[in-house]
Order: sequence, then structure tokens, then C-alpha cells
Amino acid sequence: MALTTGLAATVSAAPSLPSCAVADTATAQGSMNDWDQSVLDTRFRLGSSYAPKDLRSTASASLNGGQKVRRFVIADLGAMARAARAAGARLAVQSSYRSYSTQRSTFAYWVRVGGYGQALRTSARAGHSEHQLGTTLDFRSWGGRAAWYYPDWATTKAGKWLKANAWKYGFVMSYPKGKGAITCYSYEPWHYRYVGKAVATQVHVSGVTLREFLWAQQVTPTPTPTPTPTPTSTPTPSPIPSGTGSPSPDPSASATSSPSASPSPTPSS
Ligand code: DAL
Ligand code: ZN
Repeated sequence: MALTTGLAATVSAAPSLPSCAVADTATAQGSMNDWDQSVLDTRFRLGSSYAPKDLRSTASASLNGGQKVRRFVIADLGAMARAARAAGARLAVQSSYRSYSTQRSTFAYWVRVGGYGQALRTSARAGHSEHQLGTTLDFRSWGGRAAWYYPDWATTKAGKWLKANAWKYGFVMSYPKGKGAITCYSYEPWHYRYVGKAVATQVHVSGVTLREFLWAQQVTPTPTPTPTPTPTSTPTPSPIPSGTGSPSPDPSASATSSPSASPSPTPSS
């Protein structure tokens, strides 16, 4: 029987986090079903053909339209948008899904604005953006300007509410303040990635950044909550062996499909 010490043992078993080198290494979690595990940064990327087929308008999630996310994000995104609005912290979407080619244009835009070095810290090169997953959104305050025009959008009503509550709906702020050396990007209080409620809760409780969490996770996955073994009832003596137990199937996520494409002309972050 193994003695475990929980998360500490799990984290210490992981190889150290790679540096934020500028490279073009295919992420080890680059398939469409790996959306909640894909490590993406300045080094690791998705393929240029990675383009979800199940995109839906963010208008389906009680938000403005003109942007898209994968279908399975809509329910939690909508619940979050409605809760924010009820709390007087109404949100809008600045940018969500961005294709490989849109991201290439986006990065080029930021290079023109501030030069290559600056762009590397604030924008992902094509293939490297979490926006290509179709699960990531840049938010702003309803009726407000893009969040990056604020000194710190997380101090606004909407930004503050989101920072405190996003994890409850399955979203994680990928690039928190003061963690640029770890996340590879400057502070982005508007950029949230959907990883589902279970993973978002684990990240929230762990206190580490999403990049650290996913890196550790890919090597030593945290066991997903398994059903508590059902205590067996008092054995009944029986001289004849009875039928065998049936193993319970382990349901796995299934992919969905429905063609869609979305150009996005607005420069984004
Ligand atoms: N601004 C983030 C890093 C992106 O471009 O995905
Ligand atoms: Zn973003």
C-alpha cells in the first residue's frame, strides 16, 4: 500500500517547469479532446489545422454576439454571465475563439504596435494561443473599452467579480499578476480559459498558475474523483459461488461536430 501525502507529493514528482523559451514544440496534449489539458505557452503550440468544429456564438451564453466558443462552454459561460450581471458586474466578450491565421494577424498587429519583444510578452504567436482552443475568452465590462486600456481591469466592478468567482463556473485566469516569469505572458486580468469546474476548483485550491498545474498534471495526473467504494453488506454464507460482479464502465468525453468558421477583425490580446 502506498503512503501518499496528497498534492505535495504529486507536485514534487513533476519535472521542473520548462523555461519560457521561444520555440515551436507541438504540445503533448494537442488533440481536440485535450482542451482542458493542453499546455500552451511561448514554447508549446497547437497545430495549424487545430480548429474546433463545434463553435457557437457567445450570444447563446447571455453575452454579446460576434464571438464564438466551443459548444460545451456555453452552459457554464452563460451561468457566469448571468450571475455577474445579477451582481452588478455585467460582462461583455472582447474576443474568444481565434483561428491560427487570425492569431498570426493578431500577433503581427502587436509587433507593429510595440515591437517584437513587447509583442512576445503580451500576445501569442500563431499556434501558441489558448484562444485557438475555442475555450478561452477576453472579457471587458459591459459598455466599457477593451480591458487592457485600464491600469488594472481586475479592480473594476466586473473584473473584480470575475477574478473572485470565475473558478466556480470552470474558468481560470491564465496570466495572473506578478507571475509573468512562470506563465510566459504579462498580467492579463481579462483572459480566462475554461477548464471545467473540477479542474478550475483544483487550480483555485492549489494556488498555482494554470501553466504550472497543467504541466504537473500531464506527468502525474491527479486522480479524478472516483466513486467511493460501496461498503459491502454482511456476507451471506453460501456454499455455491454466485454470479460475478460487473465492472462499471468509465464514461469518456465524446467529441461533437458541426462545421463553423469565424473571422475576427478586431485586434485582440
Ligand atoms: N494574449 C494572449 C497571450 C494570447 O495572445 O493568447
Ligand atoms: Zn486573451
